[in-house]
Amino acid sequence: MALAETEIPTASVSADTALDGRFGPAVALSCRECGTRYDLGPSFACIECFGPLEVAYDFGRVTREQIAAGPASIWRYRALLPVPDGVAARPNMAPGWTRLVNAGNLARELGLRSLHVKDDSGNPTHSFKDRVVAIAVEAARNFGFHTLSCSSTGNLAGAVTAAAARAGLDACVFIPADLEQAKIVMASVYGGRLVGIEGTYDDVNRFCSELIGDELGERWGFVNVNLRPYYAEGSKTLAYEIAEQLGWRIPDQIVVPVASGSQLTKIDKGFKELIALGLVEERPYRIFAAQAEGCSPVSAAYKAGHDVIRPVRPETIAKSLAIGNPADGPYVLDIARRTGGAVEDVTDAEIVDAIRLLARTEGIFAETAGGVTVGVLRKLVAEGRLDPDAETVVLNTGDGLKTLDAVAGEARPTAVIRPSLDEFRSVIA
Ligand SMILES: Cc1ncc(COP(=O)(O)O)c(C=O)c1O
Ligand SMILES: [Zn+2]
Repeated sequence: MALAETEIPTASVSADTALDGRFGPAVALSCRECGTRYDLGPSFACIECFGPLEVAYDFGRVTREQIAAGPASIWRYRALLPVPDGVAARPNMAPGWTRLVNAGNLARELGLRSLHVKDDSGNPTHSFKDRVVAIAVEAARNFGFHTLSCSSTGNLAGAVTAAAARAGLDACVFIPADLEQAKIVMASVYGGRLVGIEGTYDDVNRFCSELIGDELGERWGFVNVNLRPYYAEGSKTLAYEIAEQLGWRIPDQIVVPVASGSQLTKIDKGFKELIALGLVEERPYRIFAAQAEGCSPVSAAYKAGHDVIRPVRPETIAKSLAIGNPADGPYVLDIARRTGGAVEDVTDAEIVDAIRLLARTEGIFAETAGGVTVGVLRKLVAEGRLDPDAETVVLNTGDGLKTLDAVAGEARPTAVIRPSLDEFRSVIA
């Protein structure tokens, strides 16, 4: 695991101060592998076994009514997140509570009885990353970090610089230098420093791990490195919202994109918490993971029956998912296998087709990551691996305006004419 190579920052907050309410119901960090517990702090790897740390909670009683009375943002679930009670009143991006679209047209076209699209393009910076960053900003404030940073495949950089601007923090974010123009514009327009690194995302991530160990970056909050346990919790809100918007029901099947795999593992955690808290009825659900063929290390391991992921060098138009060495890949494999789901991938051509299919049937313009999930959904249905009669949800995690080039080649006016009815008649016939 790449993160294990970095020197581990020691926890700076004692259990006593952690319990003063700044982390809401969170009580500790816990190793996902060996269960060792640590005080809440800017730590991310277990000192005993190098396993990833995640937030552990002591939830009080949480009711549907209490949640429904909250704001139309992720903060309606603050009782289930590592944030203080008054978080909604602080300057932040208030992401979430995005639309769940009943996608009847697409369902008919694919031969499904019930399909919803969870459309996270409606977030403030137009991707699901606003959810995770909002939680990381709270952690950064708690730990006294004044600079917010990240390694990003594009969407995260924009989410971090925007959130830092609003929270009054400095930002310095790192991306592969060859990203789409829209992602570069969105990551620089909010201010802060944007650094392009010559290399892949995995090179950027390695660089950031080195930077944390250096005095230059040791007091920075890297949302997806030393703040990762907190950041990752933001993805649970996708599970909560989907269940609440379905009338407090977990869907039978869900298709989720995978880059590092963090989002998918936290959607599973979110469903499990809702069941444990009695907020939804316990029922089986299947989680399907979606990758682009040009960066499909998790899918390759799944198909080969392996438990370990062999890193790859990404080559795909789905740049937001182009992580060749996914930190949470093994957990994605576990979850897909345990829930009776699968991991599948689609080619760049299938991604473009799927973007167009979703736009044509439902009026939703997805970025390439949405093309990956819809493409995988289509493939799984065609191969009889998804139950066509079961309630299905597919995620669109980003806005098509961010990856215009994917479809720009085929996009042109039906005709260009002078403003004359005769000319219009001649071309429209
Ligand atoms: C639009 C979009 N969807 C999905 C993902 C996957 O996120 P994760 O790294 O949590 O698997 C990313 C990651 O950058 C993304 O930008
Ligand atoms: Zn451990």
